[in-house]
Amino acid sequence: MREFSESYLNRTREGMWDDSRRALEPLALESRDRILDVGCGTGELSRVLAAESPGDVIGCDADPGLLAAASEYVPTVAGDALRLPFPDDAFDLVVCQALLINLPDPAAAVAEFARVSTDLVAAVEPDNAAVEIDSSVDDEDRLERRARQAYLEGVDTDVTLGADTSEAFEAAELELLETRQYDHVRTVEPPYTESALAAARRKATGDGLADDRETMLAGELTEGEYDDLRGSWREMGRAVIEQMRDREYRREEVVPFYVTVGRVP
Ligand SMILES: C[S@@+](CC[C@H](N)C(=O)[O-])C[C@H]1O[C@@H](n2cnc3c(N)ncnc32)[C@H](O)[C@@H]1O
Repeated sequence: MREFSESYLNRTREGMWDDSRRALEPLALESRDRILDVGCGTGELSRVLAAESPGDVIGCDADPGLLAAASEYVPTVAGDALRLPFPDDAFDLVVCQALLINLPDPAAAVAEFARVSTDLVAAVEPDNAAVEIDSSVDDEDRLERRARQAYLEGVDTDVTLGADTSEAFEAAELELLETRQYDHVRTVEPPYTESALAAARRKATGDGLADDRETMLAGELTEGEYDDLRGSWREMGRAVIEQMRDREYRREEVVPFYVTVGRVP
């Protein structure tokens, strides 16, 4: 199972769902009784569900360390998305966010969601091939594209699932209701947050890239190409930090997520 740190989830979900929750409308949160958030991680989506719904929300994840953070917002249960520790028909909405992109067989998970739902199943999944970056540091967009391409070539699950999540719903024999796009926009500008400063430091040390080294080398990238990329990456990180010192650094990242909703027949 792919592992995620609490700090990674906090950083990458920062501001998500703060500005608009329109893409969650098809989940009819206002009329739900019992909601399960599968692969809830630190509970970034669970807390939004709990705020928008009068129903009970439960978070479920295979990583007990992350569940400790999620339990600040909702009750949690440890469990595997492919063998949920709940009886049939225990919820009226089962939802996940950025879980299916990490599973080798997304349709099997969706079928398991359908087993424990009486009504709706939903998934909020990104298309990581379509991420857009606009940065005041010239090389940042080019290097991030290169790193992303190498990661996509090496990763063993479909992290570009996005709108194609509907195929997993069809394979699980759900009645497809709707797919809505939600662009998660993350902006870095002065005054810089602690997490923006930490992200810049991770660029300058190359630590962020090193986390994905193994995956990148599993694809077409050679060790030599990885070392060259890391060298340029660290240089770019130092340019980011310099611009931050002068309060000139600006970066906008748009990650397209797709909310797919289906009904249990
Ligand atoms: C990218 S994180 C997303 C977390 C959270 N939904 C969010 O959007 O912030 C993927 C999560 O799925 C969990 N996960 C991965 N495979 C799982 C499985 N088979 N069963 C349950 N949880 C799983 C991981 O532990 C992690 O918390």
